[in-house]
Amino acid sequence: MHLTMRLTMRLRAATSLDLGVATVERAVRERMRSSGAGIDYDPQPGTPEFDALVDLVVVPESWILRDPAVFATALRFVQARLLTRPGQQVRVLSLPCAGGEEPYSLAMLLARAGVGPEHCRIDAFDVSHAAIARARAGRYTRNAFRGDDQGLRARFFTEDGDDHVLGAEPRAYVAFAQANLFDVDPAVTGTYDLVFCRNLLIYFDLATQQQAAARLAALLADDGLLLAGYAEAPALCRHGFAPRTPHDTFALRKHGRGAADVRRPPARPAAQVPPAAPAAPAPPRDLLAEAKAHADAGRLAEAQETCRALLAVHADDAEAWFLLGLTAECAGRPREAEDAWRRCVYLDPEHYEALCALALLAEQRGDLALGAGLRERAARVHARRGRQHA
Ligand SMILES: C[S@@+](CC[C@H](N)C(=O)[O-])C[C@H]1O[C@@H](n2cnc3c(N)ncnc32)[C@H](O)[C@@H]1O
Repeated sequence: MHLTMRLTMRLRAATSLDLGVATVERAVRERMRSSGAGIDYDPQPGTPEFDALVDLVVVPESWILRDPAVFATALRFVQARLLTRPGQQVRVLSLPCAGGEEPYSLAMLLARAGVGPEHCRIDAFDVSHAAIARARAGRYTRNAFRGDDQGLRARFFTEDGDDHVLGAEPRAYVAFAQANLFDVDPAVTGTYDLVFCRNLLIYFDLATQQQAAARLAALLADDGLLLAGYAEAPALCRHGFAPRTPHDTFALRKHGRGAADVRRPPARPAAQVPPAAPAAPAPPRDLLAEAKAHADAGRLAEAQETCRALLAVHADDAEAWFLLGLTAECAGRPREAEDAWRRCVYLDPEHYEALCALALLAEQRGDLALGAGLRERAARVHARRGRQHA
């Protein structure tokens, strides 16, 4: 069998990711170049060379306190659990944990709130060896603090040249291990009270998303809480989870465990405000129109900020993700653009412009097969629209 096909199959088996042949081809070219390998290049799973290849096909993007509302919910959940089950340690799972930004964020909040590691333990897994090595090193660049870190950097990190190194206190909460989600066996690990699984399902195909939901359900205690990515919660709610309350957008329970109706999609974050107070409705701001106006006038930072404000309230607004992608691309950040456009297409698989933009990006980096596939998808959407309007 052709080498790239063979490696694509091996990499899919190792990561469960919906990988295109072209992505693998690019990673193989890069590894062959940097390792100086010849035509006999054929890395086997379990070897350092294969791990290096895995690290080139995953997207290990994360940062400290990514989506602060999620961490505020997690902290409240742990504190409430300790009150209702005094003396029992709360078990948290962060999967995927990327370079440790997610589990350390919770650990820092716990430390600041006076909840010691004897009361709460965090297991953190990621399929990427390199990500786990970075997590264990606890060394970050400024980029890891791109959100509002709520003073965590000043309190828990020391500077070393351009890097920020995490101190011992938050590290004491977290145990890292390299693992694929599907190899994490609840019979071995036990179940968890709180599970973070954010920004993973968007990289899976539909069948794998369903299997992932089943695996997460097995790993979560029956009365536990799953913290999902905003865009991923709807898929999980199709497969056995439900918003904890009708107002929750990312906090999910297993269906039938006091959760809201499983078939109801998660509410939009705006509704997290307790429903009791019948305040006069604020005059609606059309944030999308504002963001477009900023973008049209070349005010990229303002356009991006407005998109983010809109997404904080309506995380499933595909158009806002599309616009966010555009602003990122114009600002010379293609990876961020790709991430935003992927979310857009995930939420609206028929988004013609996002499909075209993704195709262009793929082609620009030499991923011609992926580009062609995306263009075909876009052409099918275009043809369908034409038929509908005929
Ligand atoms: C975009 S990061 C998400 C990190 C973090 N949860 C967040 O939201 O910031 C995606 C991570 O998923 C990991 N990953 C991909 N497939 C995986 C799998 N099957 N099991 C575990 N981790 C996986 C990648 O290595 C990457 O670090």
